[in-house]
Amino acid sequence: MDKDKIMALIREIKPGVKWVGAIDWDRRLFDALIPLPEGTSYNSYLIQGSEKTVLIDAVDESMVDVLQGNLLALGIKRIDYIIAQHAEQDHSGSLKRLLDLYPDAKVLGSARCLDLLMLFGLVSQDRVKEVKDDEKISLGDRSLQFIIAPWVHWPDTIFTYLAEERILFTCDFLGSHLASSDLYASDEAVVYRAAKRYYAEIMMPFRQNINRHLARIADLPMDVIAPSHGPLYARPEFILDAYRDWASDRVKNQVVLPYVSMHESTRIMVGYLVDALISRGVGVRQFDLTNYDAGELAESLVDAATVVIGTPTILAGAHPLALYAAILANALRPKTRYASIIGSFGWGGKMLEQITVALPNLKLQFFDPVVAKGHPKEADFQGLDRLADEIAAKHRELKIA
Ligand code: FEO
Repeated sequence: MDKDKIMALIREIKPGVKWVGAIDWDRRLFDALIPLPEGTSYNSYLIQGSEKTVLIDAVDESMVDVLQGNLLALGIKRIDYIIAQHAEQDHSGSLKRLLDLYPDAKVLGSARCLDLLMLFGLVSQDRVKEVKDDEKISLGDRSLQFIIAPWVHWPDTIFTYLAEERILFTCDFLGSHLASSDLYASDEAVVYRAAKRYYAEIMMPFRQNINRHLARIADLPMDVIAPSHGPLYARPEFILDAYRDWASDRVKNQVVLPYVSMHESTRIMVGYLVDALISRGVGVRQFDLTNYDAGELAESLVDAATVVIGTPTILAGAHPLALYAAILANALRPKTRYASIIGSFGWGGKMLEQITVALPNLKLQFFDPVVAKGHPKEADFQGLDRLADEIAAKHRELKIA
């Protein structure tokens, strides 16, 4: 691409602060686990101070040509510091090329981050410099302050604050996997959903740390929040309020119902329970585990009060897809309060026990399960009505909406 076209794609955030990252419209999977239905972006930021030039976060190795093209189009001949806010390869995979291109550049990061980068073979000891919490570096006419923020999902993350321009760079924190031509979150409804899903997929297990980070940055004057995935926020309160809600202890009047059915018995029971819950004023999100998006299931778990897993019995136990959903929920550690299991069996098995023991990380109160022998009969439907009554009553006790 010629220089003028590249220059048109580089966006200025404030004087001397530019977005120079890459949009990955076509990526559809992250960590060989997380679906990316809307792609993602790797946001990289160039800050040109009167004395020093800094790059905040790099891009995935697959997009290094884009980042390099942006820097060359801008005529950047020297970079003094590359700030690695987090070592994961989607932000650091291109470091080797950058360090070759800019031989004077030092990589700045937390001790944990630098250790990981060296472990991954991306940098060598002579090219790194550790930064501490609250440390500042001068770029001449402006300065950067570092905030150590471990366990956004890895132990290494830092945020970077550019006080003179009131910009907070947050790497994964507050971001979204959303490929977009919008630099800023102009359609907040779209970004809300993508950011909630992203929070669920990687940050929800670290909710208490997320709350600490929110408290830490609460008093920083901010015009812009600049994460390293997805659109930036020119209205920081939008994403901060959303995170405060998701990371709080509050749950919502919702049941998440992932299920799998082989010969319709479990499906009939799921349909009956869903209707029974709706008629009692309880919201439901139902997921057929043979055809679902794991990110949507994760997002639904962010604030639902209850999860009910539906499974038939196969090979003397729970269906593997139902077990996988339970293992996923256990790993994501949502704030779910209540749970139950519904399903069917023909001649016995350990379905109930397997699902229950797969959820040790969640502090759950279990309602009695409803398990039909063969096709569901009148007594099973009465059991489902009883379960719906109990769920609705517990949700009412919590005074949740
Ligand atoms: Fe976007 Fe944890 O890397």
